[in-house]
Amino acid sequence: MERLYTAVARLEKELAVSAILLQDIASRFQEAMSEGLAGRSSSLKMLPSFIGSPTGQEQGQVIAVDFGGTNVRVLLVELAGTGRSRIAARRTFPLKDKLGYYDYTAVSASGPELFDFIAGKISEIVSDGGIYPLGYTFSFPCRQQGVDKAVLINWTKEIKTVGVEGRDVGQMLQAALENRGLERVRLQAVINDTTGTLLTGAYSDPATTIGAICGTGHNTCYLESCQPVTKRPMIVNMESGNFDGVQQTKYDILLDQASEKPGAQRLEKMVSGQYLGELVRLIVGSLAADGHISSGSERLSVPYSLPTEDISAILGDTSPELEVVAAVAAARWGITGLKVSEYKAIQTIARLVAMRSARLVTATWAGVLSKIDPGFVRQHTIAVDGALYEKMPGYAEQLANTMVEMFGDKAKKITIRLSKDGSGIGAAIAAATVYKGKYCNER
Ligand code: BGC
Repeated sequence: MERLYTAVARLEKELAVSAILLQDIASRFQEAMSEGLAGRSSSLKMLPSFIGSPTGQEQGQVIAVDFGGTNVRVLLVELAGTGRSRIAARRTFPLKDKLGYYDYTAVSASGPELFDFIAGKISEIVSDGGIYPLGYTFSFPCRQQGVDKAVLINWTKEIKTVGVEGRDVGQMLQAALENRGLERVRLQAVINDTTGTLLTGAYSDPATTIGAICGTGHNTCYLESCQPVTKRPMIVNMESGNFDGVQQTKYDILLDQASEKPGAQRLEKMVSGQYLGELVRLIVGSLAADGHISSGSERLSVPYSLPTEDISAILGDTSPELEVVAAVAAARWGITGLKVSEYKAIQTIARLVAMRSARLVTATWAGVLSKIDPGFVRQHTIAVDGALYEKMPGYAEQLANTMVEMFGDKAKKITIRLSKDGSGIGAAIAAATVYKGKYCNER
């Protein structure tokens, strides 16, 4: 029978992204961008945002709502107009109660209920009097029909709330605010979180041409110098999580088949925080089924029983006996008393899955860079937000190293930088741009 280390070596091969594969993915990605931009069939949606790069001078006090997944954040942001911003107040709240009292992300919840809940949280942050411009980050694929009009194409990240797909989510939020007597809070812009991340990066660093989220979900946007409809520079939300140009392993196929929307968001299912833990569980499960890991626990077969935060913990475990890995296996799957070599195998699988994610993401960014600046004439900053980038041990390093592997010396022109709270602050920047525009027009 195959031994544990042979099985792990086989997995290493299966999950590897070789140098040739990196280049291949980058060129497929570039091709998919061109097809999508030209309006031809492509797995990249290339959605217009109706927003370009900020000047860095946008200023004022703005409310930002950041709806990115199962948590919603409401922020009061002060933009200084000198490329600097400050979060004056913030509230984060879950859309799904831990004790099960409510779940606005489930099929039992309706759109109006969801937006009324969010409007209620906004009311907690506004003081009496005054008009508040509102910027709204809504991190799902939307057909943008103007800067403040965004129709949800479909939910991602396993959210199922009914009556929102096909509707204008900006209008739904504004209606919920008005129902609560909050007409003073006026929606100016609806943006994707990648757009927010790019705007926040570009607010202080004009070389920022790409914005990306490496968190629960995954997606990238970029500054297109000539958007085909307006023929003007515009941020384009690629919805790159839906890219389908990467070969799936049998574990990716299993995960996809059991997901809410099989076939959709194929790249996201290979790289984002929503799914990495599940991929690790499926692979560890297959090792256990083949008798390489002495599990005996039923809990290993429970879908999504390994949250991605645990992968960060597993990767950060440098203890000789792999105590953290052992604690995670016991807490999540009820697996105890394994040999160190077995815990080591679990850690290796977590590393392979996480590093594959970073390499695939870099390949897509390489595709974008080659498209927007084929001669590598300019400096480029890639602004990134999300827990994988910020917190997963080795993830940010892998992105940077893979860039060097792909571009050699030219990679010196590329900076990858954390855009902390980018999606929220970016909503405020977007709103300030639009609000200032209106104000100027009125004068
Ligand atoms: C959504 C994108 C979003 C990304 C990161 C994906 O599931 O489709 O719109 O930008 O997650 O939050």
